[in-house]
Amino acid sequence: MSRNSLTKEFLPKHVSIIMDGNGRWANERNQIRIFGHYEGAKTVKRIVKEAHRQNIEVLSLFAFSCENWNRPDQEVKALFELFAESLTEQAKDLNSNNVKFNVIGDLSDLSAELQDKIKEVENVTSANTGLNLVVAINYSGRWDITNAARKLGEKVKDGSIDPSLINEQDFSEMLSLCALPDPDLLIRTSGEQRISNFMLWQFAYTELYFTDVYWPDFSEDDFRKALDSYCRRDRRFGLVAETPNHDKIV
Ligand code: FPP
Repeated sequence: MSRNSLTKEFLPKHVSIIMDGNGRWANERNQIRIFGHYEGAKTVKRIVKEAHRQNIEVLSLFAFSCENWNRPDQEVKALFELFAESLTEQAKDLNSNNVKFNVIGDLSDLSAELQDKIKEVENVTSANTGLNLVVAINYSGRWDITNAARKLGEKVKDGSIDPSLINEQDFSEMLSLCALPDPDLLIRTSGEQRISNFMLWQFAYTELYFTDVYWPDFSEDDFRKALDSYCRRDRRFGLVAETPNHDKIV
């Protein structure tokens, strides 16, 4: 096995991506920003396939944050058209590739048509057992945490939980990703090095990987490089080192 081989045992189960740089990619080509988002959607397709090929269990993509509503109306409208088009176009492929699709975020602000479309694709793919593809739309980490606190508050109010017994597990179960493992690896493209209100709770021990590549240019090879970087890291979760991962990769 070559030194770059990705050994399943050490691969991340859950990879999160902040897909950044679409606007700059388009600007550099004297195109409008939405052109970059359309190219970004093509990257999504390629990276979903590669994640599937690498036996990644969960791939979560930050597609639209609660803060993104403050972008120019034309860009917001075009982005939602793109989400709807991508869903319609991809539904069959996702299903035939055994991908289970879910959206996280506050969907109540989305159009009824898009909400229906999302539900339809979630239902059609719900029994699939391959890659879990999670797309975050109108999502922010603070929204998720506030929402969880609200749900726990309701339980306290109706007497089904004693507030003095609430633990981290109870809290996690109220979050959007409750049934899935926390992300092992976060990739952010375009050179920015921040987590921008993505999964604030779930990133507690996530390994961070930043690359200068703009999202539309992010290739399967770039994805594998990020996985390889992860495989070489020694995750300690606050404990002391045992056998470092990189000793086990040949
Ligand atoms: C950030 O780049 C990107 C977004 C806010 C949108 C991400 C959306 C896609 C990749 C489209 C397709 C998605 C799916 C799930 C089909 P930016 O616009 O902030 O780039 P900039 O920092 O260069 O301006």
